[in-house]
Amino acid sequence: MVISICVGTTCHLLGSSSLVEAINELPEKYLNNVSIKYSTCFDVCHGQMKPPIAKIDDKLYDDLSPDKIKKIIIAMVGDN
Ligand code: FES
Repeated sequence: MVISICVGTTCHLLGSSSLVEAINELPEKYLNNVSIKYSTCFDVCHGQMKPPIAKIDDKLYDDLSPDKIKKIIIAMVGDN
């Protein structure tokens, strides 16, 4: 899966770098399925969605925390 982490100003100030750190802490079996990219502002942080925001494959996820993004990845990759 491709994860695009928004590193625009608002998402950056609200912790997008902690999301990258959290992803990199995942066990290798998950990391092997993940490709991390960085994105500038998705233009959804002005009232539509709550930063920090990331796009996983084609879907935007908001209000992310390190724990939340790890859980999403683990659920998507599967536990086997
Ligand atoms: S700064 Fe991240 S969506 Fe705008």
